[in-house]
Amino acid sequence: MPETSAKSFFITTPIYYVTAAPHIGSAYTTTAADVLARWHRHRGERVFFLTGTDEHGQKVLRTAEKNGKSPQEFVDGLVESEWKPAWDLLDIRYDRFIRTTDDDHVRQVQEFWQRVYDNGYVYEGEYSGKYCVDCEEFKSDDDLDAEGNCLIHERPAETITEKNWFFKLSEFADRLLELYESVPDFIAPQASRNEILNYVRSGLHDLSISRSSFDWGIKVPWDNSQVLYVWIDALLNYTSAAKIFDDPEAFAQIWPATHLMSRDILRFHSVIWPAMLMAAGEQPPRRVYVHGYLLVGGKKMAKSNATAIHPREIVDTFGADAYRYYFMKAIPFGSDASFSWEHLHAVYTDELANNLGNLASRVAAMIGKYFDGKLPAPGALTNEDGAIADQLQKAAQKADVAISRLQIHEAITATHDFVTAVNGYVTEQQPWKVAKDDSPLATERLATILYVCAESLRAVSVLHSSVMPTAAARLWESLGAPESLGSLEDQPISSAADWGLLPASSTVTKGAVLFPRIEADVEVGA
Ligand code: MSP
Repeated sequence: MPETSAKSFFITTPIYYVTAAPHIGSAYTTTAADVLARWHRHRGERVFFLTGTDEHGQKVLRTAEKNGKSPQEFVDGLVESEWKPAWDLLDIRYDRFIRTTDDDHVRQVQEFWQRVYDNGYVYEGEYSGKYCVDCEEFKSDDDLDAEGNCLIHERPAETITEKNWFFKLSEFADRLLELYESVPDFIAPQASRNEILNYVRSGLHDLSISRSSFDWGIKVPWDNSQVLYVWIDALLNYTSAAKIFDDPEAFAQIWPATHLMSRDILRFHSVIWPAMLMAAGEQPPRRVYVHGYLLVGGKKMAKSNATAIHPREIVDTFGADAYRYYFMKAIPFGSDASFSWEHLHAVYTDELANNLGNLASRVAAMIGKYFDGKLPAPGALTNEDGAIADQLQKAAQKADVAISRLQIHEAITATHDFVTAVNGYVTEQQPWKVAKDDSPLATERLATILYVCAESLRAVSVLHSSVMPTAAARLWESLGAPESLGSLEDQPISSAADWGLLPASSTVTKGAVLFPRIEADVEVGA
C-alpha cells in the first residue's frame, strides 16, 4: 500500500452559496469528499475534511433581500435548517463546517490580504466592465453571448463602474505555468488541465478584489470604505480553517489541500487561488480535481434554474448508504451524467439488494442453520477457496490505488466485483447440498465454504465502509466482528485483505435485511 501513517490528507469541497437548500449537485461533491476522507482515515492518515458555506457577496445579499431578511439572519436560518441537516442525513463526517461569516475566518482573511498588500501586489484603479451576480464573476466578452448574457446562467451580465482595489494577477502567469509543469496532476482530469494551460498562456489580467457599492462582505483592511470581492474572501476559507495565522504549526502539518469541484469554478481554484497564495509567500494547494456535472434535461442541475433535486427525496426511499453508493459508483468521477430514478432503482436492486444484501443474508442464515450461529473453523483450503483470498487481495489493492487517483467509482467497482465473485463461489460450491451429507469430511467442507464467505464479507465491510458507513457497520456487527476485531472505523485498509482475521466461533447473526427490496413502480420523488 502506497501510504504511510505519518501522511496528512486535507480534502475540501467548495463552500456553497447559501441562497437555497442543497441539491444533489452540491451533495455530489460533498459525498465524494466524505468517501475520500473516510478512506484516508482507514489508512491511518491525519485527515482534515472541510466543507462549509459562502455567505458574503451580492448574490446572497439580493436573495436575502428578496426574502425580506437581513443577510446574516437569512444565512443563519438556511445553514441551520438546511445545509447542516442535509450533510447529517447523508452521513457526511466533516472535521469543520466553515462559514465565511465566522470570526476566525474574517480575521484571517484580513491578515492575509494585508500581507499581500504589504508585499506590493495590490493597487488602486477603476473597474468598468461586466459582472454576473449569479457567478459572482467579472466577465470578458468571451464569457458572454452576443446579447451580453452570461454563458452559464443565460442571464444578462451587469455593467459595473467602480473605484476598486486590484490584485496584480497578471504578474503570476509564468509562475503558474511553472507550477502546472512541475506538478503534472495539479489540475485533473487532463481536459481541465489543458483548458487552464491555454487560458493562462494567453495572458492574465489583473483582478478587481474589492467592491464599494454594497457592504455585505469583509472590510478591506487598509480601506474601510470597501469590502473584499466575495471570491477572494471565499477561497481563503481553506487556509482559515487550517489556521494559517491562528496556529501556523497546525497549518504546516495539514496544508496543502486537495480541492474537489466541478468545472464552473475551476479558474478560480487553479489560477486565482494559487496566485493569491504565491503573493502571500505561501505554498499552493496540492491539487484541483474537477468532477462532472449532474445534468437534468442536458443542463447542469442548479439552484437557479428550478431543476434542483433535494437529497432527501432520494434518501427517504433508498436510504443514505444506497444514495452514496449510487452516486459514487454509477457515475465515473470526472464525467457528466444525467440522474435517473430508473437507473438508481436498477443499481440498487442488482448490486445492493441482490448481490451484496443477498450474499450477507444467505451466509448468515446458513451459519445459523448449520452451525448454530457460531462461525466454524475452516479446514484445508482448496484452489477455489484460495482463489477467493487472492481476488480479495487484488480487489483491495486496486481500490486503494484508485482512491489515490481519486477514481472513487473504480475503487467501489473493485469491491463490488469481489462481492460478485463470492456470490459465484457460493453458487458453485452449493453449501446447501454439502450440508445434506453429515459425514465429518462433508461437515468440514461446509465449514470451510461458510468461513470463506464470512471472511470475505468481513473484508467487504472494511472496503465498503467509506462509501456505505451504516450498512457496512451493520454487516460488521452481524458477523460478530466487533468483539474480536474492535470497531469497523478502526480497521486499517492495509490489512483489510489479510486472510483469516475473523476468528472461528464469532457469533454470526442474521440481522434486518441490509437493502430491502423497493418496488419499481414507487413514484419516487414525485
Ligand atoms: N461559493 C462558490 C464556491 C466557493 S469555493 C471557495 C460556489 N458555490 S456553489 O454553491 O455554486 O457551488 C458550486 C459547486 O457545487 C460546484 O463546483 C460543484 O462542486 C457543486 N455542484 C453544484 N451543482 C452541481 C451539479 N449540477 N453537478 C455537480 N456538481 C455540482 O460556486
